[in-house]
Amino acid sequence: MSVSPKLVAGTSVLATGAAMGFGWAAFERHWMRLSRITVPAHPDAPELKILHISDLHLTTRTDWIVDFVRSLADLKPDFVVSTGDNFNSRDALEQVTRAYEPLLEFPGAFVLGSHDFYSPYSSSWSKYLRKDSRKIGDRKRHRIPDLPTEQFTQLLTSNGWVNAQNRAEGVWVETAAGKAGICLVGTGDAHENADSLEHIGLWPDPPLTAEDSGTDTPSSLSQTAGTLKLALTHAPYQRVLNAFTQAEADLIVAGHTHGGQLCVPFYGALVTNCDLPRSYASGLGIWPPKKSGREQLEDTDPAGSRQSWLHVSAGLGTTYQAPFRFACRPTATLLELDPGPRG
Ligand SMILES: [Fe+2]
Repeated sequence: MSVSPKLVAGTSVLATGAAMGFGWAAFERHWMRLSRITVPAHPDAPELKILHISDLHLTTRTDWIVDFVRSLADLKPDFVVSTGDNFNSRDALEQVTRAYEPLLEFPGAFVLGSHDFYSPYSSSWSKYLRKDSRKIGDRKRHRIPDLPTEQFTQLLTSNGWVNAQNRAEGVWVETAAGKAGICLVGTGDAHENADSLEHIGLWPDPPLTAEDSGTDTPSSLSQTAGTLKLALTHAPYQRVLNAFTQAEADLIVAGHTHGGQLCVPFYGALVTNCDLPRSYASGLGIWPPKKSGREQLEDTDPAGSRQSWLHVSAGLGTTYQAPFRFACRPTATLLELDPGPRG
């Protein structure tokens, strides 16, 4: 049987293209990036530099991510937020500890993702491109938490970071302009239905007595450099974002999407791995979209006229099943709050 030379040439072009694409995607996951974004804020908000990291997905063989996260301490942020998925293997606690160590000298808060409880398992790399990866056999699998969650959360809380997992708490942070108050609220991972929404809207003020805070505090909130309502979640499902927005959060931070991880140049993310529209896969946006853009939402009038800033991190690591990134570099973000002039 003779084979057409055109078929041979076409096949070899396709094979070469595929090999180059995989080669680039394997490289791009190492090409770390810091993004600086200015967030316009209301006049009573503090001027703050907030470092947002997410989805580190560390193993014993991802030292370049550890080194990059450690280097972020040079930014001297006023506050650090981590929105979950720190592990890709059970034996990565040492790497996670090393990554966070320099950041723990700054105040911070965190929520957890499924990959802070459950180690990943082998499945097809194409799983990530499904609209909802949970439908690929996950629910049939009996999952037992097997990651060092306790040790990890202890590491952060013993250094003063707020565990915002289904909790609300107010804290003070020192800034160049004085003490700034941050009213924090967070949820568990909505992708695992571990989110509770009842406490959202409580917004506890930072403590106003030294006994409560253990530090010198202003005698009233009006004497501060401003306060911010900051909401944290791992997976930005619409029900969680709507609850935060209805509660008038100034800024919502989330991870989970990996920015799409495998994107198409000039088109963007193919999936968000949750019910968030593709256009919100990474970066800063306003949630919910303007009324004219709400056709794709579950609830087309989720928060009346209220809107909040939403920052979705593209994350720093990759899923265990697909250790590639394409047109979607691993990214940490410095969110620089810019309050308007006080009247
Ligand atoms: Fe993740």
